[in-house]
Amino acid sequence: MQKRNKISVIGAGNVGATVAQRILEMRLGDVALVDVVEGVPQGKGLDLLQSAPVMGISGDIIGTNTYEETAGSDLIIITAGMARKPGMSRDDLLSANVKIVSEVTKASAPLSPDAKIIVVTNPMDVMAYVAWKVSGFSKERVIGMGGVLDAARFRTFISIELGISADSVQAFVLGGHGDQMLPLPRYTTVAGIPITELMDKDSIDSVVERTRNGGAEIVSMLKTGSAFYAPAAAAAAMAQAILLDQKRILPCSVLLEGEYKVSGAFTGVPVILGMDGVEEILQVTLTAEERAAFEKSVEAVRKGQEATGF
Ligand code: APR
Repeated sequence: MQKRNKISVIGAGNVGATVAQRILEMRLGDVALVDVVEGVPQGKGLDLLQSAPVMGISGDIIGTNTYEETAGSDLIIITAGMARKPGMSRDDLLSANVKIVSEVTKASAPLSPDAKIIVVTNPMDVMAYVAWKVSGFSKERVIGMGGVLDAARFRTFISIELGISADSVQAFVLGGHGDQMLPLPRYTTVAGIPITELMDKDSIDSVVERTRNGGAEIVSMLKTGSAFYAPAAAAAAMAQAILLDQKRILPCSVLLEGEYKVSGAFTGVPVILGMDGVEEILQVTLTAEERAAFEKSVEAVRKGQEATGF
């Protein structure tokens, strides 16, 4: 009999607990939920477990402060770390989160040597680099979550602008998951129609700008933390693509080694996600202007990577 997938979610805060819930409800497998705070993963884990009979779910979940229960995971999702407060950029979290991400990677990766790792903690591209360095895993198995969320925000704002379902929008976002991200209208369509045919330049520019500030807009409303429903949905979609070997094309942060003429930096590009993790990186042509903006975004990630000391 084929055994169920095991997914470890590290960090049982807003994003982690919501990812755990989505994974159970999407019936992707059993979850080990880990956090440094005593009682929190246990309490949330038990609460989620008690939702299973109501939802008709057979997946199991255990909350813990240690890593034994994570051994043999197929997938590790890292959400541990500080979240933004109003006025902070993702980069302001760098030094605190480098320490946390390297610590949790060191504790979890050796126990699950065949796992793939999805990194959610911000600044995400830089944290994916840290997880890759510390785990020693091949680059195909360490993947940052950012583009799926940025594209979802882009799709949402286009749908609001046009009064149509976001489901009909295919959006394309390139570059780091930071202030320099690059929503690309030229590759964004509604039911196959380029948005450049449906929206004027001013509306496109304002939707692009709102997408770039999508995270900050929510932080300024919440005040005590940052977005978690859409980030958790994005991480769960990536988990599903990997665990079910869907070979979906999703924008993810991956280590580029020559693709897009970039080497040694994690950044968001379209990839095929399947059982082997990143199975292929898709390359598209960029205009000179897009290219310049992409390079600026990569440079910002590179600076962050250098600041980690790894
Ligand atoms: N080991 C395990 N868990 C840790 C550690 C550690 N060393 N350090 C912190 N944590 C846990 C905290 O105890 C907390 O429960 O990480 C959790 C973070 O949860 P929240 O503060 O609710 O933050 P959240 O909104 O979930 O965001 C987490 O994801 O989207 C990013 O920018 C966001 O970096 C942030 C991360």
